[in-house]
Amino acid sequence: MGMFEELFSSQKLSTPLDFKSLKVDMHSHLIPAIDDGVNSFEEALQIIRHLNELGFEKIITTPHIMHDYYKNTREIIVRGCDSLRYIVEQAKIPVEIEVAAEYLIDDGFEEKLKAGDLLTIGDKFLLVELSYFQPHPNLSSIIFNLQIEGYKVILAHPERYSYWHNNFRKYEELKDRGVFFQLNTLSLANIYPTDVQKTAEKLIHGKMIDFLGTDMHNMLSIEKLEISLYSRTLDKLISSGKLLNPSLL
Ligand SMILES: [Fe+2]
Repeated sequence: MGMFEELFSSQKLSTPLDFKSLKVDMHSHLIPAIDDGVNSFEEALQIIRHLNELGFEKIITTPHIMHDYYKNTREIIVRGCDSLRYIVEQAKIPVEIEVAAEYLIDDGFEEKLKAGDLLTIGDKFLLVELSYFQPHPNLSSIIFNLQIEGYKVILAHPERYSYWHNNFRKYEELKDRGVFFQLNTLSLANIYPTDVQKTAEKLIHGKMIDFLGTDMHNMLSIEKLEISLYSRTLDKLISSGKLLNPSLL
C-alpha cells in the first residue's frame, strides 16, 4: 500500500456503523409525490426497511414546505403519513412512523408562522432550511419570533450553506442564539463538494451538532448513506453521546 492509500484507509472504519444508539431519524422525504423525495409507496417501504435494519426504531419524515415549489399543507402531509404508516404496518416492519415538515425560510414563511399550527418534531422542535443561494434577509427576526412563540428551531444541514463556509462566525452566532443544528449523514460520504464535508467536520469538532438526519430522498441516497457509515468522523459524532435523536423516541 502506498502512503496515500494508507492515509485514506486509516480514515475509514473497517466495519460500518449503525444507528442503534440514535434510535430516531428526524429528517427524510418519504411521503410519495408531494416533494422531491420518493415517487411511490414501494420506494418508501424499501427505504424504511433499510433504515430499520440500520437500527432506527422511529422515523419522523419531513416533507418540504415551500412558498413556490412544494405548497404542502398540514392536511396533505398528515393524510400522506397515515397512508404510509398503514403500509408499513401491513409490511410488518417494526418501526414507528411520524411526520413533521422541513420549512424553507422564504417569503411565505412569516405568514405561516402568524397562522400558527406549524408541524413540529417532539416537543415543539421546528425543522427549517435556508435557500442555498442566500439566507432570507429577515432570518434573524424570524428566528427571534419563532423562539418567542416557543418553537425550538433546528437548522437543517448547516454544512450545506456555502455562503457561510468562509464565515464560521455565522454558525457561532446561531448557536449562541439557541438554534439547534442537524447534520446530514450524507455530508460525510464524500459526495458533496469538499467544502461541505470540511464544514461538517468543523461543526462536529466544534461540538455544534445536536441532531443527525439521513435526509433520505430515494433509493440512490440509501446507497450513499451506506458509504457514510464507514466515516470515522461520523463514529466520533455518534459515540459522543451528545446527539438528541434518542430523546425523540
Ligand atoms: Fe430535507
